[in-house]
Amino acid sequence: MSRVLASLSLLAALSACPVDPVVTDIDEARALTATAKSKFPRVVDLHQKIVARSCAPNTGVCHNTNNYPELATPASFLASINAWCNLASPDPAQGFDLCERAGDVLVSGSFQSEVAHTERQPDGGWQLTLRDPAPRTDDVAPVRFKSALNELVFQPLPEWGVTIAMVEGSTQISLSIAIEEPFFAEPYIDEALTALVQGDQNGNGVFGAADVDDGVSEARVGATVIAPQSLLRSYLWGRITGTVPGSRMPLANQALSDDEYLALACFIEGLPANGSLPATDAAIDYDACAFAKEPILFAIKD
Ligand code: HEM
Repeated sequence: MSRVLASLSLLAALSACPVDPVVTDIDEARALTATAKSKFPRVVDLHQKIVARSCAPNTGVCHNTNNYPELATPASFLASINAWCNLASPDPAQGFDLCERAGDVLVSGSFQSEVAHTERQPDGGWQLTLRDPAPRTDDVAPVRFKSALNELVFQPLPEWGVTIAMVEGSTQISLSIAIEEPFFAEPYIDEALTALVQGDQNGNGVFGAADVDDGVSEARVGATVIAPQSLLRSYLWGRITGTVPGSRMPLANQALSDDEYLALACFIEGLPANGSLPATDAAIDYDACAFAKEPILFAIKD
């Protein structure tokens, strides 16, 4: 990757992988734009020539059915627009803050708090970390969970014996299950707790979607695999530029060339803000692409 496009993402400023500051050269950027325009005029060209060369056609490898996100076909590539990132992360503790979503909410009587982190214990119980300290001490408090949008996600039945123990002032909660007749309920309870959305999944004290200020957005919104019009919040961009934690993509293959980076940036920049998906034969708009005109706009600021 040349110095012109050596990084271009403020995500680096939020990441553990610093990238050298960029020196930009507008003439070089113009030449690269012309190359990208002729090699990748449409979305389908970008997919087939850049993404598919490393992800397809071998079933069972990489992003052709083996790793999230599935990128093997133009349609599956487009389906990663606005899809959550880090969904199948091999090590959630290494996850990227901006991929963290607004967590589900634990409710116990009048106390409620966002779930930061969950951990299954060897005895089948669970250890939960909450955003807020418990207001009281209680050994057998009732519990239910709702989403950040206030929708009920899990309400254990009384006969399942699901209770929490909390200590006033502590954010640590123990959840135990005292079910008498396991049959279907025990695995169901386990699945429901496993599926809880954790606001601080990597356990570093930062609630990604809510706490991270990317320096640009007014609303605090998290990243998605491809976020329309935003390189900053497109996790895929972070992974191919090596500006977010995790191995740089395409893993074990040659990094993208500069014209390929430029095509991908202009594709992301030109996506409709309302989340509607472009047609696979839609043209990539290089003429209106700010990234292609002024790469310095995207340079890292230390
Ligand atoms: C241009 C091609 C590629 C792109 C755009 C790409 C993109 C990505 C992205 C965005 C993720 C993170 C998903 C998430 O956590 O939300 C990821 C993870 C992963 N990719 Fe790729 N990838 C590419 C090529 C490859 C290739 C060729 C391989 C294997 C040979 C590969 C193997 C993996 C693996 C094993 C993971 C999960 C492990 C990890 O997060 O480090 N990828 N890729």
